[in-house]
Amino acid sequence: MHHFHYRGDDLYCEEVPVARIASEVGTPAYVYSHATLTRHFRIFDQAFAAVPHLVCFAMKANANLAVLKLFSDLGAGLDVISGGELFRGLKVGVPPQRIVFAGPGKTREEIGYALKSDILMFNVESGQELRLIHEVASGMGMRARVALRVNPDVDAKTHPYISTGLKQSKFGIDIERAVEEYEAAKSLAALEVVGIHQHIGSQITKVQPFVDSLEKTAGLVRRLREQGTDIRYIDVGGGLGITYKDEEPPLPAEFAQALIGVVRDLGATVVLEPGRVLVGNAGILVTRILYTKQSPAKNFLVVDAGMNDLARPSLYGSYHAIRPVRRVADRPDVTVDVVGPICESGDFLAKDRALPRCQPGELLAVMSAGAYGHSMSSNYNARPRAPEVVVCGDRIHVVRARETFDDLIRGERTLDEVT
Ligand code: LLP
Repeated sequence: MHHFHYRGDDLYCEEVPVARIASEVGTPAYVYSHATLTRHFRIFDQAFAAVPHLVCFAMKANANLAVLKLFSDLGAGLDVISGGELFRGLKVGVPPQRIVFAGPGKTREEIGYALKSDILMFNVESGQELRLIHEVASGMGMRARVALRVNPDVDAKTHPYISTGLKQSKFGIDIERAVEEYEAAKSLAALEVVGIHQHIGSQITKVQPFVDSLEKTAGLVRRLREQGTDIRYIDVGGGLGITYKDEEPPLPAEFAQALIGVVRDLGATVVLEPGRVLVGNAGILVTRILYTKQSPAKNFLVVDAGMNDLARPSLYGSYHAIRPVRRVADRPDVTVDVVGPICESGDFLAKDRALPRCQPGELLAVMSAGAYGHSMSSNYNARPRAPEVVVCGDRIHVVRARETFDDLIRGERTLDEVT
């Protein structure tokens, strides 16, 4: 459920016509609904009320400071993947005791920064990383809390680029070898083993892959406990899918019930790392049609948002629904490619899509763009990144300004200026 809906023929975000936002901040622009973000977090969090738990928002999905602050105020922690993400989280006051740090390539500097910040735990992805964390922590006279990310070898049945729990994946430590690595971790004095972590992929629309992998992980927890390793945190990862088109993912309550069934008797704190499910349908990308164009084979809508603004269609062939910001009666549907201004054939937001015939100057809303939208955007083709707007009821807050041309060259010098 989200708060983007038509009133009459105009698309609204909560109480605000989307057309008004476009006229105030220009296009392209990301628009998020405060009520939807809040609702999604609360529903997800409450679904796990029966067990001690911590929801660590996977901020790679949406790293805007206002979004982070909103979730933090509701009690969320963060799943971070880089020093930069940790910086953003701390900047808005997310308590470090609610931050977990994953990722297969943590650097020495990032590890030191996270230790200094006293985060809850590192989700460790390899034996070498474990030893580096030990080395950095002992150098600082500290103990690092660690969980090992195990790779349960489960098929998440999602796009191969966003599937992470198979043997072939670069992520985590093979579940068969995990006991050995836990023993190694216990022998390193500057490490405190506190948990276990898994994350099998993203946009998963069935409960079963989560249950299968968590059963394997829970089995490992039992074995580890028999050997005297205390596992206080079971981090289940993220990955719950959303509806982009006609997917029917489990509701958070069903998801939670299935997972709780697997881990309840273990008595550990359950850590969750949802990203997409909290923010995906809480955001849209608003874009303006620049030109309509016909080639012998195709109809095109050339819009002012490109693959630098929303990479998902180009990168994964992802489907995002596209809606007119103002519906006009009696317009026939036309099959079009919605393409951006970038000099790449892969620059499209939709292919062969039936949309009501549109005119240059009209606005379109690219739906379900709140996750991995702005956070994956770039300056390709020297395009300033789009602003981000949060709507609260009838108010519009620009929470990130549109980049300027000067932003594009910040930090750069020609050789003449350097010497
Ligand atoms: N935890 C870890 C360790 C992760 O790597 C991820 C996502 C999440 C949690 C959150 O997953 P979610 O709940 O959002 O599915 N750019 C792709 C998705 C990449 C996901 C990367 N990891 C996309 O646009 O579909």
